[in-house]
Amino acid sequence: MRLQAADPKTLAGEFLQAFGSQNALLTAGDQERCNTMTIGWCQLGRLWNLPVCTVYVRPERYTYQFMESHDYFSVCVLPDSAKQTLALCGSQSGRLVNKIKECGLTLRYGAGETPLFEEAALAVVCKKLFVQDMSPTCVTASEDKVLPYYGKKGGWHRIYTGEIVEAYTAIKN
Ligand SMILES: Cc1cc2nc3c(=O)[nH]c(=O)nc-3n(C[C@H](O)[C@H](O)[C@H](O)COP(=O)(O)O)c2cc1C
Repeated sequence: MRLQAADPKTLAGEFLQAFGSQNALLTAGDQERCNTMTIGWCQLGRLWNLPVCTVYVRPERYTYQFMESHDYFSVCVLPDSAKQTLALCGSQSGRLVNKIKECGLTLRYGAGETPLFEEAALAVVCKKLFVQDMSPTCVTASEDKVLPYYGKKGGWHRIYTGEIVEAYTAIKN
């Protein structure tokens, strides 16, 4: 499967459905160093009249360091056949395992040298626009909805909203 550049506006339905309901790989770094991890929380939409993608990263993640040190990130939705890749990238840390090599993923680079994967079914490359930490003081939901995700499970996520600067779809053979 190879990727071709696409206009996210013409593929809005497909993109919204996939990014809103499937797990994906969040990747940040450059041609020298990068890391990827599975994410479940991701939204596409419009903010400040720009096409945006928002992801949520706990500070414990190795990927967090790359999200902090780089201006861009990518989100790749993989085909259904890639369940094992998503399982490994969502359970192992790049501090200990070269997940990209282990999963046999093929790197390519988008804007800002941002790594993404040829195996993706859909992908976006985003330039960071807005970063903010989630905080317990901002929770308005009843206690059982949000708070159980924190404490022993890990730290409060950092929210990264990026402007979608490139979008890709797989060329169907
Ligand atoms: C289905 C699934 C969804 C996940 N979603 C997120 C997420 O949205 N944000 C997050 O910080 N971690 C999420 N994780 C956990 C990370 O993928 C996991 O901790 C990973 O091993 C971190 O890798 P790293 O240390 O190399 O960054 C998810 C894991 C799975 C299996």
